[in-house]
Amino acid sequence: MRKVLIAASLIALAACTPKSEEDRFVDELMSRMTIREKLGQTNHPAVPSEIITGNEKCEGVLESIRKGEVGAILNSPGLEANMEYQRLAVEESRLGIPLLIGYDVIHGHKTVFPIPLGLAATWDPGIVEGAARICAEEASADGINWTYNPMVDIARDPRWGRCAEGSGEDPFLSSALAAAYVRGYQGKLESDSEILACVKHFAIYGASESGRDYRETDMSPHRMYNDYFPPYKAAVDAGVASVMSSFNDVNGMPATANKWLLTNVLRDEWGFDGFIVSDYNSVGELSRHGLGDSGQVSVAALDAGLDMDMVTAGLLKYGEKALADGKISMKQVDRACRRILKAKYRLGLFADPYKFLEKSRPSERQFTPEHRAAAKVAAEQSFVLLKNSGILPLEEVGTIALVGPLADAGNQYPGCWTSAASRSHPSLLDAFRAEKGLNVLFARGSNAIEDKGLEKSISGDYPYPRDSRPAGVLIKEAVAAARKADVVVAAVGELAYASGESASATSLDIPECQKKLLRALKETGKPIVMVLFNGRPMSITEEDGSMDAILDVWFGGSEAGEAIRDVLLGRSNPSGKITMTFPRNVGQVPIYYGMKKVAREAPAGHGFWRYNSNWTDSPTDPLYPFGYGLSYTSFEYENPVLSSASMAKDGSVTLSVTVRNSGSRDGAETVQVYIHDIRTEGYTRPVKELKAFRKVFLKAGESRIVEFEITPDMLSWYDVDQYNLRGSSKPLHAEKSLQSGDFEILVGPNSRDTLEPLLLELI
Ligand code: BGC
Repeated sequence: MRKVLIAASLIALAACTPKSEEDRFVDELMSRMTIREKLGQTNHPAVPSEIITGNEKCEGVLESIRKGEVGAILNSPGLEANMEYQRLAVEESRLGIPLLIGYDVIHGHKTVFPIPLGLAATWDPGIVEGAARICAEEASADGINWTYNPMVDIARDPRWGRCAEGSGEDPFLSSALAAAYVRGYQGKLESDSEILACVKHFAIYGASESGRDYRETDMSPHRMYNDYFPPYKAAVDAGVASVMSSFNDVNGMPATANKWLLTNVLRDEWGFDGFIVSDYNSVGELSRHGLGDSGQVSVAALDAGLDMDMVTAGLLKYGEKALADGKISMKQVDRACRRILKAKYRLGLFADPYKFLEKSRPSERQFTPEHRAAAKVAAEQSFVLLKNSGILPLEEVGTIALVGPLADAGNQYPGCWTSAASRSHPSLLDAFRAEKGLNVLFARGSNAIEDKGLEKSISGDYPYPRDSRPAGVLIKEAVAAARKADVVVAAVGELAYASGESASATSLDIPECQKKLLRALKETGKPIVMVLFNGRPMSITEEDGSMDAILDVWFGGSEAGEAIRDVLLGRSNPSGKITMTFPRNVGQVPIYYGMKKVAREAPAGHGFWRYNSNWTDSPTDPLYPFGYGLSYTSFEYENPVLSSASMAKDGSVTLSVTVRNSGSRDGAETVQVYIHDIRTEGYTRPVKELKAFRKVFLKAGESRIVEFEITPDMLSWYDVDQYNLRGSSKPLHAEKSLQSGDFEILVGPNSRDTLEPLLLELI
């Protein structure tokens, strides 16, 4: 009885709560819209003759805009075209509803930052937020008011090429960066450079089977909530305006028609109030998953909670009939339309549809010296020193032999997703040559890969400058240069589009033609610094053994050439740390630091041991662990202490550790805190979970006590009722659980080399 009374009074309260100005505006507008115009808001075509990422093209878009049957357009990076699209919508359609103008601004627009996996290696949310801010400023100057970023899919399988677009394997770090991206793009959504963000790809797209893009995923909800959902939720908590549903099948239901994901989790549990857009034709592709014809799948997607359909135009085509047949309700159509109109209102488009369309802006706001300087700092900080026998930095070097297929291919440095940017940026060779007093001999030594056909499709819009002479001749030339030099710098690795969408791979090795070059160089006896270009963790076990130093530079963006040079020459001290585990070989995949404890764990370093969890032909530990990266200086961790050995469930304790720069150079170190929940009721927990990190800059010889507050939230995890997957009538339930008991608190420079654990009892 009491419940009924409370419910009744809530309804009464809602009825007399005054409507916001936004709601009144949208109500009034919707009262004038026809059904077709409402369905039109859900329609998100790609505009003709621009870059497209799928196989479907949209016809008659201009005419549809005039008819008021388009809510948003995709893939128009230029200001003039965008002005015209917006003019058509505002001045020629009946109600003049402005368009959202969406574009994949992923890690740069004109100024290009490192690929997101590289940006993550900075472990610096400030750098990530700053990069997103600049991306938004540059893109908005071209009239783009919505970006399909951040991509926050947890990736633990480097065969999956799209790991380049995300922040790596860890839920905590990825969550911190997801929020930073959203803050950077959206700000307060007030100024003419703050644009809508879109977190993607919801959900668990990064776990596609065998690392093959678009494949199904099947995962326990327990793992989803604890390991894969957190970054999406962090973006929602940070106020992201839109969410993109993913292509993949999730536990038997493609995400785009998955009501549990789109409604129960996203709306009901997380309170997301923005709009949900499909991925490129992912509504249409539901038919290929076997969910019915175009009409049926459009109905299924709307019913699941999708609001906007990228490319398929399903509701526009079939919505009226589906309404007439009672397959969908007007309430559902209104709900989707309302969410899209609200986003436009929030963005300020109704107040000024031309807010982002100002002719003078591109030249003032794009590729400015300030933006390029920020991109260079980001690039330098993203580089990870994986090995150094002491040869780096190259400070008093005589002659350098610069070799390798990526030494002069500056057009590859922007990486796999910056379609609006120019790709003619200085290469490492250009940067070295611009350096007075540096003696550089160049010989490419090898092409990037042997297969010319494949080379074309993985070198992007600007083809790789192939050398057509026989491989043996190229190697000979490089060896001759090496013989004349004091040190060899070998720029090797992948081409830009060897990672990214659909670029899955079964080998993580450096291509064989490049390996041959490295082996020949090794025979000269000269010290070799390997500069590795990559969009994913690579298995470089052989090179780890043979090279004198390895610097991972990802695809570092428009300023990468000079950034690499400056790090090699010691003007900048590398501080990046990897955010995805580097396996020894592809057979170890998936391998990540946050695995569960195995009862029959074979100790690392032990050979094959029957009836234990290991491999006959490979060690079990990775080549480089998550969080790993060296510096030109060294850091010591000393005296870790907890302020108390026990903690109440509503209390906190302080962890402190002294970090000392024990080398002779200034440098930055990212201090990492992990926990291990030793004993739980119900479910098991990983051996280590990152829960805090801080990047500290220490002068040579300087010591600092670094403190972290250990809070109950860090010790809690989602306790999920795993076995109620089916119905929205009784949806699967997930709550954070905080269980008393013992925890290990671990601190250190990476996920492997943590100090002796400190015991904390939660009471
Ligand atoms: C990708 C998305 C992207 C969309 C629009 C799709 O193929 O999966 O990440 O935002 O295309 O270009």
